[in-house]
Amino acid sequence: MALMDKATLNLWAMSALVIALMIMAILIEHHIFKGVRYFWYHWIILNCLERQMIDAGIMVRHGNIIVTPKIQLSFSKDLNSATLRIRNALKYNKVLDDVVMSSALRKFVVERHYSTDDGNWYIYELVDGSVSFKQTYNSLDEFLQYSKTISTYKLFLDSRSTPRLQHAILVGQTGSGKTYAVYSLLMQMLYKDVPYHLYFADPKGSSLAVIGQEIAPERTASSVEAIIESLGQFVALMRERKTELRKRLKTRIDADYSDFGMSPYIFICDEYASFASVLASSDKKTRDKVKALLYEVILQGRQLGFFLFIIMQKSDATLIDTALRDNIPLKIVLGNSEQQTYVTAFGAGVDIPNRHYSVGEGVFTEPVLAPEPKLVQFPYCNFDILQACKQASVV
Ligand SMILES: Nc1ncnc2c1ncn2[C@@H]1O[C@H](COP(=O)(O)OP(=O)(O)OP(=O)(O)O)[C@@H](O)[C@H]1O
Ligand SMILES: [Mg+2]
Repeated sequence: MALMDKATLNLWAMSALVIALMIMAILIEHHIFKGVRYFWYHWIILNCLERQMIDAGIMVRHGNIIVTPKIQLSFSKDLNSATLRIRNALKYNKVLDDVVMSSALRKFVVERHYSTDDGNWYIYELVDGSVSFKQTYNSLDEFLQYSKTISTYKLFLDSRSTPRLQHAILVGQTGSGKTYAVYSLLMQMLYKDVPYHLYFADPKGSSLAVIGQEIAPERTASSVEAIIESLGQFVALMRERKTELRKRLKTRIDADYSDFGMSPYIFICDEYASFASVLASSDKKTRDKVKALLYEVILQGRQLGFFLFIIMQKSDATLIDTALRDNIPLKIVLGNSEQQTYVTAFGAGVDIPNRHYSVGEGVFTEPVLAPEPKLVQFPYCNFDILQACKQASVV
């Protein structure tokens, strides 16, 4: 009896040891030494990912054994972002390129993915989609303190994204914060050390027209005729800049307007759809003229420092020429939009982080900073914006 007891005891001890070793292996595999939260995120996401990969057929079957590709996951110190590496194989190549990964990543979303130069690994950059990085400025001084840290020809969208000045399109349902987002860009432009020349077109004559009237009434237009005329003047100046720049390029062939410290010119058109629909009912000559002017700016403006900012609720081909839209590098979609809005802005098959977007929040793409839709949260300016703009025009 005593012998039996000892044998059972040994068995128990062995089992306990095996279980303890297994637990230890799991703890080590999921980096417990980096903290309990790190361990928990690592464990839960890896499990979820492996399960979903199997469901999606991203695996190899050897008899009864299922092998998923090798996965490595590492989080930043604050656990707000992570890098996911998935080992590539012939079988997965195209699949891993197109897979919509965010659904398998709990609250994390993919912001960018690419493969390593040797093609052996797919790298996915993840962020915690539930974390807010929205900035609030309680005074103009506070706003300017941050804005002054940004170089002359760049504009910050939020604390994570500061693209170069370029053509931009802002899309989103009514009340999603498009015009407000433009205010924050506008205030940056108005206080730059090189003067920004701004043109305002607001066919509905609403808030942007009010700001425009205060700071540059001669460059503010509300009626369609006035907008066309203003666009014509804008392009005429661009042509002058072209002649001027051509002379300077002789000294430096690969330069653009910013290398010579020149001022940028920006034509901001709010409610573009409204402009486009009135234009659609005008004569063909006028339509062709406007189209030619817009294309001229979009295609030549980058080097010359002439940019279009287009704001509209939807960017379908019925409202804006597809070729025109596709040549705009900075595309921002704010608020909770229909799938179709994302498709027209970014193209089909893109992975849009699935979350509830509050006002001023959304996603954007830009060739350098965000080849894939990246979260953006425009700041809240808790001060008198109109006064801030007026003050700048006096400076
Ligand atoms: N980033 C933000 N932070 C805080 N509040 C915001 C932000 N953006 C917008 N809002 C609030 O939402 C309101 C509506 O925003 P806005 O007028 O910019 O919408 P919109 O997209 O231009 O709508 P519409 O298409 O009807 O012109 C603003 O008046 C402001 O109070
Ligand atoms: Mg608006």
